[in-house]
Amino acid sequence: MALQLGDTAPDFTADTTEGTIHFHEWLGDSWGVLFSHPKDFTPVCTTELGEVARLKDEFAKRNAKVIGLSVDSVESHDRWKQDIEDATGNKLNYPLIGDEEHKVADLYGMIHPNASDTLTVRSVFIIGPDKKVKLTITYPASTGRNFAEILRVLDSLQLTSDYQVSTPVNWNDGEDVIIAPAIDDESAKEKFPKGFKKVKSYLRFTPQPNR
Ligand code: BEZ
Repeated sequence: MALQLGDTAPDFTADTTEGTIHFHEWLGDSWGVLFSHPKDFTPVCTTELGEVARLKDEFAKRNAKVIGLSVDSVESHDRWKQDIEDATGNKLNYPLIGDEEHKVADLYGMIHPNASDTLTVRSVFIIGPDKKVKLTITYPASTGRNFAEILRVLDSLQLTSDYQVSTPVNWNDGEDVIIAPAIDDESAKEKFPKGFKKVKSYLRFTPQPNR
């Protein structure tokens, strides 16, 4: 069965462009973003990998490590690196897993045979410091991802793991959040001293509590 939210992210040992990585050990206490791309030396993938390199500091600010994967070899990834830098201006600064034998791809269900028997789809897994899967997204090969959205989701996941709130549609860091319906108004006054706006009994907005 496909990996689901709350499952433990499978551990693995793999060769990468930064040497052999034992995944859980490499993650340590960080959040992790594991993403697959279909194939080296392809246009959309080149733009994506450059963009993740550009955003590396944004992930680091959020205590998140990024790691990519495709079913090409580490030698192929190493040859491709210069193209990524030439094309995007960003030097690869995070590991890429070489997964020619599909070991990690199979563990994480990154090959969808009805899309392609041989190439990984564009999967994203966000993994919490507890090694549990917090988010999965799957895009087809023809659609490049929006990594600003991945950062936005990380902000939401981290906020909602620390406070009894959820984040509304199109929320961005710094905007009002929703108080969990399980908290009654009296408790909400104590827990959220900045106050709240009650739109419906079950829909109460409060300023982002960690700001
Ligand atoms: C690309 O990155 O452009 C791509 C890779 C595999 C299939 C289709 C597109």
